[in-house]
Amino acid sequence: MMKTIIGSDHAGYHMKEKVIIHLRERGIEVEDAGTYSEESVDYVDYGKAVAAKVSDASFDRGILICGTGLGMSMVANRFRGARAALANDLFSAIMSRRHNDSNILVMGGRLIGDALAMQIVDTWIETLFEGGRHQRRVEKMDIE
Ligand code: RB5
Repeated sequence: MMKTIIGSDHAGYHMKEKVIIHLRERGIEVEDAGTYSEESVDYVDYGKAVAAKVSDASFDRGILICGTGLGMSMVANRFRGARAALANDLFSAIMSRRHNDSNILVMGGRLIGDALAMQIVDTWIETLFEGGRHQRRVEKMDIE
């Protein structure tokens, strides 16, 4: 069973709540790392909390939502082993899995609607990494 952790700032809070309900309805366990209200917070804190737990292998996958997805993806990709994909469209979500083995999905709560976000989440969860030549390329990311 895939272990998933999700986090957002205030700009992604409502979408995060909907993603959690959506995943749980599908029988997918998800840990909520916050934020827990619309009160203004720093996306950096929640991006770090989720990326650290994917980086240390406590969780297989992470999902991060802020206003644009930009700040969250910048923060998450500073963690070794984190491959955070900013995907506000389906094609990016699919290719981030097939070619980049993305382990963190980042979306912009102010950029896309909830229906598309749920489709992106489902697609990202279901799409497999192709491996092969892409495996070598992914491995090179973590070489000093
Ligand atoms: C918050 O206003 C906003 O800056 C944040 O959600 C995110 O879009 C940052 O990249």
